Amino acid sequence: MSGSTECPAGCRVDALRAREFPYLDAAGRAYLDHTGAALPPVSLVRGHAERLAGGVFGNPHAAGPASRASTALAEEARAAVLSFCGAPADEYVVVFTANATAAIRLVAESCLTARSDGPLVLLADNHNSVLGMRRYASRAGVPVGVVPLRADLTADWESVSACLDGCEAVAGPGLLAYPAQSNATGVRHPLSWVAGARRRGWRVLLDAAAHAPTGPLDLSAVPADFVVLSWYKITGYPSGVGCLVARREALARLRRPWFAGGTVLASSARTDWHLPAPAPEGFEDGTPPFLLLPDVTAAVAWYRAVGRPAFAGHAAALTRRLLDGLARLAHPGGAPAAVVLGPPADADRGPVVAFNLLRADGSVLDERLCLDAASAAGIDVRSGCFCNPGVAEAVNGMTPGVVRDALARGAPEDVDAYLRLLRVPAQGAVRASPGAAANAADVDRLLAVCAEVASGPATRHSGPRVGC
Ligand SMILES: Cc1ncc(COP(=O)(O)O)c(C=O)c1O
Repeated sequence: MSGSTECPAGCRVDALRAREFPYLDAAGRAYLDHTGAALPPVSLVRGHAERLAGGVFGNPHAAGPASRASTALAEEARAAVLSFCGAPADEYVVVFTANATAAIRLVAESCLTARSDGPLVLLADNHNSVLGMRRYASRAGVPVGVVPLRADLTADWESVSACLDGCEAVAGPGLLAYPAQSNATGVRHPLSWVAGARRRGWRVLLDAAAHAPTGPLDLSAVPADFVVLSWYKITGYPSGVGCLVARREALARLRRPWFAGGTVLASSARTDWHLPAPAPEGFEDGTPPFLLLPDVTAAVAWYRAVGRPAFAGHAAALTRRLLDGLARLAHPGGAPAAVVLGPPADADRGPVVAFNLLRADGSVLDERLCLDAASAAGIDVRSGCFCNPGVAEAVNGMTPGVVRDALARGAPEDVDAYLRLLRVPAQGAVRASPGAAANAADVDRLLAVCAEVASGPATRHSGPRVGC
């Protein structure tokens, strides 16, 4: 994050709270899970209702006036997404999907089809929705490399490059997939890896789902082949709309494993023949969420009116407040009561703080104790491993050998059984992610809960874990 992270009291984003997120204060709630989802601004929700009440919009896969109205709004939405990403229209195209996961799967199923497609290299710090690509790779006989994390949960280009070298020696250049910002720790992985890998003939899938709400995204400078987004994470509304922003030439090389309504110009029922529609429609299965696509256009305008620097500065200032508050949490006698995962410097992280509370002897408290106390106090945070097992593995020293040995001792039926086999003290951490709908008072409320939990009598959680 840049140095301009000041967001003084009464800043533009703070002022949005009463206007756009009035339901928070009405219910006495504090929302610190913006990496899970941003909250919907009421003006976008009202805009949606007014648009539908004021026009006739039909299925865009037709030629009547209602269809043409929807198609025109869908094209506007594509242009808005391109401009949001700084993506030149002659180089990039926007494919609408249900979410970031569907966009990733679209690439995986169409790109990892045969050994000749080349290897797949994943950063250990990836969301499960990216890690799942390895199943397509295994099925296609494509080698998979995983770039390990350093102790501070960052990674360096030397490790990425070494992994590319190793895979390339076996199967030539392939696909590198990594998150611009970790959903678990907020670490901002260098965007310069994109150009570095592409120079070597690799294609790059940049997962910008957690990064896009506050991080810089300029595809004219960072020429990733595939970028995936979920719109609800950026402006809270609409949900059910994701994007694959793809370089036209990279998209042209994908081989879709099937066809569906909307993806073909013509097909035969009695013979195995179809004529694919050109991009982007050729990649959009079935009817797109045409009533929601204009909301993306409105969301981009809403976001622009406030501005990325203001959103980023606001979230960064709250993040710093939280980091400083956690650093001050201590037991009588001075032992720290919290430990934060990831690098200490603001420059290396987005607005995400993953932490564990500690007992006075330094041992880690079950992260669910904090989640339960925060929930009871009306504060939304997350706990667990946040669908990102690589970070928990790095924190707990779970090398591939350790995991394989543990699994050789038994077949776990649930998360608790898996953790018992691994003999790890905690599944993960607590994650707080400030954003547009949060303010300094929310952060202070969470810090007060943390202080209470760390000094409180409850040290064990008895409930089952529900998953990661
Ligand atoms: C970094 C990252 N990638 C991918 C995803 C998957 O997004 P979705 O569930 O919207 O498909 C998430 C969701 O939290 C995420 O944070």
